[in-house]
Amino acid sequence: MRLSVLADNNTTIDRYFLGEPAVSYHIVDGDAKVLFDVGYSDVFIRNAQRLQIDLLDLDFLAFSHGHLDHTWGLEPLIRLYAEAETESRDHTIPTLIAHPDLFFPKIEKSTNQIGCLISKTEAARHFKMSLTKQPYHLTDHLVFLGEIPRTNSFENKTPIGQIQRDDEIAEDFLLDDTALAYKAKEGLVIISACSHAGICNIIEHAKEVCRDDRILDVIGGFHLLDPDPGILEKTVSYFAQLKPVTMHPCHCTDFQAKVAISKVANIQEVGSGLQLDFD
Ligand SMILES: [Fe+2]
Repeated sequence: MRLSVLADNNTTIDRYFLGEPAVSYHIVDGDAKVLFDVGYSDVFIRNAQRLQIDLLDLDFLAFSHGHLDHTWGLEPLIRLYAEAETESRDHTIPTLIAHPDLFFPKIEKSTNQIGCLISKTEAARHFKMSLTKQPYHLTDHLVFLGEIPRTNSFENKTPIGQIQRDDEIAEDFLLDDTALAYKAKEGLVIISACSHAGICNIIEHAKEVCRDDRILDVIGGFHLLDPDPGILEKTVSYFAQLKPVTMHPCHCTDFQAKVAISKVANIQEVGSGLQLDFD
């Protein structure tokens, strides 16, 4: 499996990729090509071109959750398809896989729409739709984890704005937030995005779904931005017990959180253009 970072907050020295506060990963496992999140703008498309990654032959378009830094690149992707059609170039129609809450409006501070701007109806014009709360095997080894059970007592305790499900408005605890897990020979690779569900909850769910307790790597945002000291302490002690071979904390993991994690785990830098290979 090869994971390519198409969008991240960071860029790295002597690599001329674009950064933005967002997430987009391209994953190739055997013949299957998966795009996980589309970032905030067309940065993921421009970085894919630099990596010579074709976005016209995707099998799956998976979403971690509906927030703007993960879904607002959907319009540029639809535009890419429209341009290909106009120029008579073939493109696949990927299966869009996400939690059923993905397309509901997410409102912050009474007016700001921070959720997906493309409606479910519009998305269904461009993609095969598979909205599910259940784990879903994208390949024999790569799993969309579905809705993450909140099993510990310290994560996902604060809502982010509100979600409007049809006529009902509720505090948004990001039930749509999910991740992917790859079953490598030496353990699991957890591919998260923002980890609103809680990175420890996500890892525990991945272990159960994949029936493997060995953690090879964890890449993604851990939702540790100026975190409550108690949450950071519990997260770091969870990682100390977990003993992952490597971790790639990025996106919404702040510097102080990385310093704290580095005391118990081997952490590595992430930036747009990074490519990681796993057997
Ligand atoms: Fe995010």
